Amino acid sequence: MNTTLIRNGRVITATDDYVADVLMQDGIIHAIGKNMVVGEGVKVIDASGLYVLPGGVDTHVHLQNIIGPTVTCDTFASGTRAAAFGGTTTLVDFALQTAQDSPLEAIARAQRLADSQVNVDYSLHVIVTRVDAQVLADVRHAMRHEGVTSFKMFMAYPGVMMADDAAIFQMLRQVGADGGMVALHAENGTVIDLLIKEALEAGHASPRYHALTRPAILEGEATHRGIRLAELAEAQIYFVHVSSNQALKHIVTARAEGIPVFAETCPHYLLFDDSVYHSDEFEIAKYVMTPPLRTPDDQKHLWRALRYDDLQVIATDHCPFCMKEGHLGYQRQKMSGLHDFSKIPNGAPGIETRLTSLFDIGVMQGKLSLNRFVQLTSTTPAKLFGLFPKKGTIAVGSDADVVLFDPAATQVIHAEHLHSQCDYTLLEGRTLRGQVKKVFLRGELIVDGEQWLGREGMGRFVPRGTVQAF
Ligand code: URP
Ligand code: ZN
Ligand code: ZN
Repeated sequence: MNTTLIRNGRVITATDDYVADVLMQDGIIHAIGKNMVVGEGVKVIDASGLYVLPGGVDTHVHLQNIIGPTVTCDTFASGTRAAAFGGTTTLVDFALQTAQDSPLEAIARAQRLADSQVNVDYSLHVIVTRVDAQVLADVRHAMRHEGVTSFKMFMAYPGVMMADDAAIFQMLRQVGADGGMVALHAENGTVIDLLIKEALEAGHASPRYHALTRPAILEGEATHRGIRLAELAEAQIYFVHVSSNQALKHIVTARAEGIPVFAETCPHYLLFDDSVYHSDEFEIAKYVMTPPLRTPDDQKHLWRALRYDDLQVIATDHCPFCMKEGHLGYQRQKMSGLHDFSKIPNGAPGIETRLTSLFDIGVMQGKLSLNRFVQLTSTTPAKLFGLFPKKGTIAVGSDADVVLFDPAATQVIHAEHLHSQCDYTLLEGRTLRGQVKKVFLRGELIVDGEQWLGREGMGRFVPRGTVQAF
């Protein structure tokens, strides 16, 4: 019997804030109380002065994902370890349906890769690239029997992952009726491809043209189209990595109309803006992610939407590619696009710095309350993707996934101190207030300061339920 008492910490959930003792036993939260008396065999941890948070739930992560000709440079082992050090104890990665196989084969393949490596609990969204009667049957099977209840579809990347509007509509109609979630990458992919072609023909090959060829208006157009398809299908819909007010304004209007639209943004859209793109240096490839960073005005709207619940989730879209070719043996990473920005793999790391960076720029700057911080990074993602109340809160009966967080500590971020295999962090040299001190996964201490106590394979695949938003 593994029993630990966290004594005298400040327990913060999406709704509560109180000082208490939390007793974890056999992997779950067994009791919460004041001045609890425990027997000899119980480990007692003094959490005075620390926040006791539910483990973070990151619903947008790319580990060991094959993307075009390359692969993201974190394995399920390294990426989940980095997640744990950052206070995330559950993540949702992706299973890619290829041209040859079905969603069920994609799930099985991703599980075979992940199961022996994962250090935290995980689930999968299936990326559905092709829809026919068999695919729809498999999607229904995945929801009913595999515990996979969300599906990502792309309106961008024609010829690679893009699905057409009819395919998206069919998925929305069926998945929505069954209570699941279609998560949409909303950008008008065919117009973007034209703009890329024209830029390259004009000799504009440096990384900043990635941003210039993916204007916010094309994110807005696709978001609007996705909303109308969801409205027709009478389905809930979730927009990943919302970056711009062009997209937000459609989300806000649709929610006011009563359409069940949900959306996430990512820390990088709040931490950085498009001023980083004002040079032709290749260093800017670090910021080549999709959608690109937007203007300070967009950021203002993102904060407003986070505050008033027009955005419900902050996920990382951790999609790491190395800057140095050959780092840890990884090939065809960012340098692939040295002479052609369209060949730079899209994505940036961020899995370990999500909670601390948001605590610093959100809570400490007065933009988010502590409860809202927990809601955005743990509780609502758990609810929208069918993990609640097993995950996403501190309550009797929930999994004992707990983070002890020191609000008074500060740290300076350097890639070499992080646990991702990526050779850079967007936050290099930045001082952040707040620090993850201890992390428990189902009651087991896996992070203790700088010490790693977890084990590869100790994470579990978590079968998920339907959307719990209403
Ligand atoms: O740049 C990004 N976001 N890469 C990952 C793939 C995606 O669109 O989420
Ligand atoms: Zn995407
Ligand atoms: Zn992504």
